[in-house]
Amino acid sequence: MATQQAAVTDVASHARSTGVLGTLDTADGQPDLFAPLSDGMSCAFAASARMVAQGIEASLPDAATLLALLPESLREGSAEGYVRHLVHADPLARFSAMLIVWRPGQHSPVHGHQTWCAYRVLRGTLHERHYRWDAQARQAHPCGEITRTVGDTFSVPAGLRHIHALGNDSDAVAVSLHIYGVDQEHICSGVNLLVDAA
Ligand SMILES: [Fe+2]
Repeated sequence: MATQQAAVTDVASHARSTGVLGTLDTADGQPDLFAPLSDGMSCAFAASARMVAQGIEASLPDAATLLALLPESLREGSAEGYVRHLVHADPLARFSAMLIVWRPGQHSPVHGHQTWCAYRVLRGTLHERHYRWDAQARQAHPCGEITRTVGDTFSVPAGLRHIHALGNDSDAVAVSLHIYGVDQEHICSGVNLLVDAA
């Protein structure tokens, strides 16, 4: 028997392509009907990220086994900056796993996230600086920092509720495992949400 595929119409994309979206702009006083849904989704994304972190702790092997995924010649990093290595791409394109090698003094930019992520320190020490988003000034302000050591696992939801910069303030190479909720084709463009920081 032949199967019939349901038609799916992306109205928002159609609106963008035809210019209709301008009439839906909430800046003119129209209520944002999707704001409550967005708030609820933020909670769902945070819960998803936490579950991924729990999955890392429960399902993945120890640090030495994960580090062995990386050829020894790549474990010392690069003088050019921290280096990300894809070590697993989900066959269904739901997530990607990266090993990141940080030499002393190398840091990420300040960023929120377009997707959830979770990470675990496998070697050395990482420093995570936290920021609070000022929506009016459209700027992130420092609000704390924490040191992560081997075995520490942490999750980050999509959005701007958790803005951070990761880096290596120690004098030894650090390596961390990161799971991102994007397929491998979108790691460069679909993970970090770069923001201005005070
Ligand atoms: Fe991040």
